[in-house]
Amino acid sequence: MKPPAAHRMAPSLIVLGVLGACEPQPAFVGVRFPDSFSFGTANAAWQVCGDQGVAGPVESNWSRWAAMGRIAGGQSNAVGNRFCEIYDEEFDRSVELGLGVFRLSADWPRIEPERGVFIDAELDALVDQLEAARARGLEPVLTLYHWAVPLWVQNPDPDWPGGRVDLLADRHSDVDQAFDTYVRRIIPRVKHLVDTYTVLNEPLSVISAGYLNGLFPPGRVLDIAGAASVGINLVHMQARAYDAIHALDDVDADGRDGPCWVGLTMTANAFDPVDSGNRAQVFGAKRISYLFNDWIMNALTSGALDVDLDGRVDNPDTDPPERVDAALRGRMDFVGVQYYGPVRVDDHELFVDFFPMYGLPLLDVQHYAPALPHNGMGREIRAAGLRDTLELYAQWKLPIVITENGTTTNLRPVRDDTGTVLELPRAPEQAAMYLVEHLWELGRAIDRGIDVRGYYHWTLSDNFEWAEGTDQRFGAYSVDVEDPLMPRTRNAMGDALAEVARARGIDEALWSRHVRDRYPSDTRAGGEPRWTVSENPWQ
Ligand code: BGC
Repeated sequence: MKPPAAHRMAPSLIVLGVLGACEPQPAFVGVRFPDSFSFGTANAAWQVCGDQGVAGPVESNWSRWAAMGRIAGGQSNAVGNRFCEIYDEEFDRSVELGLGVFRLSADWPRIEPERGVFIDAELDALVDQLEAARARGLEPVLTLYHWAVPLWVQNPDPDWPGGRVDLLADRHSDVDQAFDTYVRRIIPRVKHLVDTYTVLNEPLSVISAGYLNGLFPPGRVLDIAGAASVGINLVHMQARAYDAIHALDDVDADGRDGPCWVGLTMTANAFDPVDSGNRAQVFGAKRISYLFNDWIMNALTSGALDVDLDGRVDNPDTDPPERVDAALRGRMDFVGVQYYGPVRVDDHELFVDFFPMYGLPLLDVQHYAPALPHNGMGREIRAAGLRDTLELYAQWKLPIVITENGTTTNLRPVRDDTGTVLELPRAPEQAAMYLVEHLWELGRAIDRGIDVRGYYHWTLSDNFEWAEGTDQRFGAYSVDVEDPLMPRTRNAMGDALAEVARARGIDEALWSRHVRDRYPSDTRAGGEPRWTVSENPWQ
């Protein structure tokens, strides 16, 4: 009888085999979030409550934009996702997910529909929402400007009585004074309930979509002067609101860390050239990154306001003259980083010489690498971009909160010629993968010493996605928008959020469940895993 194969091996090979078995196997690098780290969700009033006010319809720049037919498929937004009617249930869902924070917004159009006319019932309704959140142990975080404004601030519709109005883009308007008055009405009503304020939401999104690509009201295209004026007005609005909140909010609502903590949220992005060997693209990416990230951050941290957008603060002939302005300096206690996906910069011929951008920012993967994993809006899925963005924002030495991050649970909508959606393919597992990869990347950044205090997922329940309406679904709960009651069902992304928030970390089992074993496009031809994170999680 022949001996078993191993007995026939040369002794040296047997030794090598034994040594091989003892070699350390790659181990999964888990992450754990600090005890003080908070998990929550974020939403915005117009997206979840629509045009429906306490006593009837509310007009705003966005209601007009919809009436002008500027939303996909001609949609309008009557009631959002009914949040204003069912916020109790929404807060219960948040608790069910194991979350501790609920970021929501006060809606200027419904609170002050005419200049100086404040609707007490709307303020009462806001207070009721905040009380209901607190009653469930949720910390409310309040945004004061999340893009919808009254028509007397901005009306994009020339055919509406009064015609076009845009105090935001008028350098000499007193929109900062108007915003200050509105903020000062709100704070005394909410100060016993709110400690954390995100005053402005993503100035650069309003600027780029409203004044550069025309997708948001007022629909201007490549209007650099208008864009600069909006930015300058917005930084003054932030600075004055910061002062007003610090002056008026003297109540530590949760008995921890003082009465108020005031920040703003940024369209935060590290910009990368499509081709890192292309010098024009590298230059364009640097310039665009400066405009989208540094411009506003510098103004509100050091007070240096670059009025002519040339990257320097040294021109006495601008309006206002460039200088370090003490009224702007230090008007953020923290910065809200909102990252959805990477932005690539191309050297398109029309843009290489186009001041002040010198490049074309591309948001849709279809324009640079269609095969990469992407969501229903075409945003590339790349968690490594969150690391780059956090490293970029760490330079301002402020505490960071991820005040938004998320993705669609749908793939690209299939539309007819009129833009109406015929089919909305669903991919909740891909969204769960996105979430876990981004939270893992965030945990690694905290381990490396970046001061991130919380993560608010966008969003709890599907809502009205601005110019795309209901064609894009970002919710951890999917909403049946065809049913007038808009019932919710928790989806795979909601499950993943609950698992990470409850475990306060990501271990190998969680990663495998949501990333390794499920993500459909996570394998190359050879079957090798392809994560979108910045390093191999098995080391
Ligand atoms: C905005 C949200 C929006 C989300 C998804 C963010 O820029 O603050 O209001 O729904 O992106 O597109």
